[in-house]
Parts: sequence; structure tokens; C-alpha cells
Amino acid sequence: MPLEFISMTFPNASTELEPIPGAPADPDFITRYARSLDDYDVNYTLIPYHSGGFDPFTIGSYILAVTKKVSVVIALRPNTMYPTVAAKQLATLNNLGRGRVVVHFIAGGSDAEQLREGDTLGKDERYARLEEYIKILRRAWASPEPFDWDGKYYQFKDFSNSVQLIGGPKAIQVSVGGSSPEAYRVGGSLADIFGLWGEPLKETKEQIDKIYAEAAKAGRPEGDRPRIWVTFRPITAETDDLAWAKAHRTLEVLKGNRANGQGKAPATAPEPQNVGSQRLLEIAKRGDVQDKALWYPTVSATGARGASTALVGSWDTVSDALLDYVKLGADLISIRGYDNFSDSIDYGRYILPQVRAGAKALAESNGTNGTNGTHEA
Ligand SMILES: Cc1cc2nc3c(=O)[nH]c(=O)nc-3n(C[C@H](O)[C@H](O)[C@H](O)COP(=O)(O)O)c2cc1C
Repeated sequence: MPLEFISMTFPNASTELEPIPGAPADPDFITRYARSLDDYDVNYTLIPYHSGGFDPFTIGSYILAVTKKVSVVIALRPNTMYPTVAAKQLATLNNLGRGRVVVHFIAGGSDAEQLREGDTLGKDERYARLEEYIKILRRAWASPEPFDWDGKYYQFKDFSNSVQLIGGPKAIQVSVGGSSPEAYRVGGSLADIFGLWGEPLKETKEQIDKIYAEAAKAGRPEGDRPRIWVTFRPITAETDDLAWAKAHRTLEVLKGNRANGQGKAPATAPEPQNVGSQRLLEIAKRGDVQDKALWYPTVSATGARGASTALVGSWDTVSDALLDYVKLGADLISIRGYDNFSDSIDYGRYILPQVRAGAKALAESNGTNGTNGTHEA
């Protein structure tokens, strides 16, 4: 498959740089933003999940109604919805959206955050429950025949799903994100897509190898292993100098907002429990810039709460840096800025076409028509 791009959905004009506390979901903003993704041929938009946040299914259904091309990636925590309900809800949404739905599973990275919605399981068990959950969804999508389930986390009898997927049982791609051994195991063995946060090339390659090793262990052939999704927060401008000036301005605002209690987590918050964030904070200690343009001060300034590694430079520099990840094995690139809407327009105009052209040339020189399975170094 050709290289694909993922953005993130913002429900209103609030950003990490200019937060608007308590802002409601804004239908006009979402419409403008989602249609711009269609205009610039962005393939997917992630609708994230947080215990106190907007409902991804509702936002996703609205986006599908106002767009024609972009697919929604619904972030879903298994503790928030019984799997048979999720199977029907996702299938209904996918059918209404003419096949434009992906589900992105979050096992849950923080005990305290999970407890906010009644989940008392520890992380290993959350991943074990996720494994069972994905198997139930796949079974429910496979056929309308009634079936029983007698698992460790779910037991039910005689469930039959009459909401079958238009496009067949694989019409909804299943994605898993995380950076712990449990994430690699569950995602490597079961997912169609595996999501990673932006790490240096060497560490990204190590993670990809681990995911592929888990896929092989589960008996998946090379052509059927998860496609790899990498995530960055590019800070770009016409020249490198202008981009670096913008990066330093961005950093100052992020630090100021955190000091004023307007960051994603206060400066006094305990260290994150999820391995993905811990890894970002460890790598940040090695130096501000890694590889060509990967910038870590935004990670330290925000406590690595969510994807936070920047790529700083001109449109050419950042496009080249992204292509290095394509050479490494990335099949999907997620980019979102700190100045959400404006950055997404810049990416659409100046980054996506360049990276797509570079990825196409790479695939042609490899003698393939896509990226998966052709990776070197
Ligand atoms: C691409 C990507 C997207 C993610 N989206 C969310 C999200 O919307 N909500 C959330 O709570 N966690 C999200 N996460 C975080 C992890 O899925 C979560 O912390 C994981 O369950 C545990 O992480 P660990 O395996 O690295 O310890 C995302 C992770 C990745 C890589």
C-alpha cells in the first residue's frame, strides 16, 4: 500500500499554545478542519480518548457526515464499552461512512486515569483484556452466526451480530498503540496497524523489529504483519532559521502554560506510567536534537503526556527527515502541529506532496508499489 498520512482531530480552536478552557465541541470548526483534510488528501484523522474528553464516536460520525474521503480513527479503551456493543457501533459507523472507519485500541497507560472510569485492572491485565476484546470484535464481524464466549474477561451466550460490515470482515482496520512488551505482543499478533510515538531512527527500528518478531511468533507471514504508524509534531517554516525561531517561541509558550497550570499535566505530576512516555523522557536526556531534526525539548516541557516529539526545520528538511522513517519501515505518518489548524494547512501544502513523491520514488527504486515489506536499514 502507498504511504498514508494521519492527522488528529481538534474539536474546537483550543490548542496547547492557546488553550480555551471548557471550550465546547464546535461544529463549524470541525467542519472547516475536517474538510481541509479532504482538500489536502490526508488519509485518516485520529479522534483521541480521554476520561474527561469528547466522545470519539459522536465526533467521528459528524466528521464522516461532512467529508467525503478522510477516514476516522476512533480511539477506544476496552473498559469503556462492552465488546459486542463496540462491534455493532463500529460496524454501523463504518457502514454509514462508506468504509471510512479504523479503531485504535488503548489498553490504558495510567492506573489513575483508568480508575476515573472504574477500571481497576493493572496494565498487564489491561493488555490481556484487550487481546480478548479484539478477538471478540473479529468474531462478531466474521459472520452473523450466533456464538458464545467464555473468556477470562468476558462471558456471554448466543450473541449474534446482524450489523455485518459492508466490505467484509476486515473492512475495519484494527490499530494498537504503545511501547511496552505487552503492547508489542498484542499489537504484533493481532493488529492491522501498530502506532508508535516519534523516537530516533535507531530506537524506532528496534521497536519495529520487536513488533514484527511478535507477528512472526503468532504465525503471521511477512505480507500480513501490522503496518507501522509513527507520530511527530513538526514545527516548520519556509527556511530552517525561521522554523527554529518558531520552535523556540513554541517552547517558551508551552513552558509558560505549564507553569500557569494550563499544560496537559502540572509540573508536579508524577512520572508517567506508560512506557511510551518514559522512553521519550529518557531519550530527551541524551540531547535536544537527535538525527536530522528530531527535537526533544517539547517532550521535557510537557512531561511527555502524549505524542510530543517535534521535527524542526524547513519544509524540505522535515520532509527528508520523514522520508528516513519511510525507509526504515513506516507505512503511516501522523503529523500534527502545536498551532493545530494553521500547521495542518502548511503540512498539506508543503510536506505531504514532497513526502509522497519521495516515498513513491523509493518504492519504485525498490521495485515494489508500496512500502510494507520492502524496508531496509
Ligand atoms: C499513536 C498513539 C495514539 C494514542 N492515543 C491515545 C489516546 O487517544 N488516549 C489515550 O489515553 N492513550 C493514547 N495512547 C497511549 C497508549 O496507547 C497507552 O498509553 C498505552 O495503553 C500504554 O502504553 P505502553 O504500552 O507504552 O505502556 C496513544 C498511543 C499511541 C502510540
